[in-house]
Amino acid sequence: MRANVKILGAGDCADSFDERDAFALDVLAGLSAAHKSIPSKYFYDEQGSELFRRITRLPEYYLTGCELEILEGQWDRIAALVAGKPFNLVELGPGFSRKTTLFLERFLKSGLDYQYVPIDISASSMGALVGELADLFPDLKTHGLVGDYFHGLKWLNHRFRRRNLVLFLGSSIGNFTRAESCSFLRSAWKCLNHDDLVLMGFDLKKDIDVLLRAYNDSLGLTSRFNLNLLERINRELGGCFDVEKFRHFGSYDVSSSSMESYLVSQERQSVFIEQIGRSFDFEAWEAIHTEHSCKYSLSDVEWLASQSGFKIREHLFDSCRFFADSIWSVDKPESVRQGTEGEAVAQSLGSDSRL
Ligand code: TRP
Repeated sequence: MRANVKILGAGDCADSFDERDAFALDVLAGLSAAHKSIPSKYFYDEQGSELFRRITRLPEYYLTGCELEILEGQWDRIAALVAGKPFNLVELGPGFSRKTTLFLERFLKSGLDYQYVPIDISASSMGALVGELADLFPDLKTHGLVGDYFHGLKWLNHRFRRRNLVLFLGSSIGNFTRAESCSFLRSAWKCLNHDDLVLMGFDLKKDIDVLLRAYNDSLGLTSRFNLNLLERINRELGGCFDVEKFRHFGSYDVSSSSMESYLVSQERQSVFIEQIGRSFDFEAWEAIHTEHSCKYSLSDVEWLASQSGFKIREHLFDSCRFFADSIWSVDKPESVRQGTEGEAVAQSLGSDSRL
């Protein structure tokens, strides 16, 4: 088998007892604030991931279909940018999705010389991904990195001085605030080399009704997905939420051009959470903020690139122009450039036994 998984800083990875402690601390901080919130990263437990997978197949949730259309129709333009030299196809927060397998399949078929390097914080989902890929693509070289994205990128760069094509698919960047995306992109820029490529998904500004339908689907899957956060608190932290007493609410904020998702308490109530050892009070119609999903104009995308040191190479659009995959290259001044032409620093990640 040509796939392996490297755990970077084993103590930091998810699926351990620490993960539950971190969840409890985040819930405590979020529900104690004047404006209550729960971080959106907690959506994706097993139930949440399955619900999200079903959301992505709804025509109302156009984002996934649009991005697939882009990647299917224009993958050869992406391939042309990396052809000719060995490279790392890096994916931040991969899922076992059609989007990823499409890249792997087409790139393998066209004879590009690459290794696939998914980076994710969860050891168990990485193990599953790498296993499934090994079955599906026996010829693919996969090196799964378990750790945070920047730790993963730095480590990779240290080990293999190859050109990187970093995928950050879906609308993940939109879940950051403007300030957070700037610092995220700048940190990525620091970890990468001059001329490395980044391909990032941006959900574009569009008719507000289309947006509202995407985040309030008619089957109610989005509502169940959002309410699953409270169910997860019940399951993992001994919470006593009666989810019937809350409702999902998704609205568009025109001034920040973002879809905002909330869980709204439909009555005055107090909810005890065992692992935190205290109750939280909710006024009638008080909201918990759960997701921010920014929508972009092309000038917003260009602004983000220039603020964080990237050059725009190409924007790829779907036929409705609902979504863009934007390809950027890292632009570094001569003085801080490192060679990427040389030998790989190490030939095999598998030979490194340090964690
Ligand atoms: N991050 C995804 C998005 O912004 C997830 C998502 C889709 C979501 N629908 C949602 C999050 C509804 C909260 C509520 O598109």
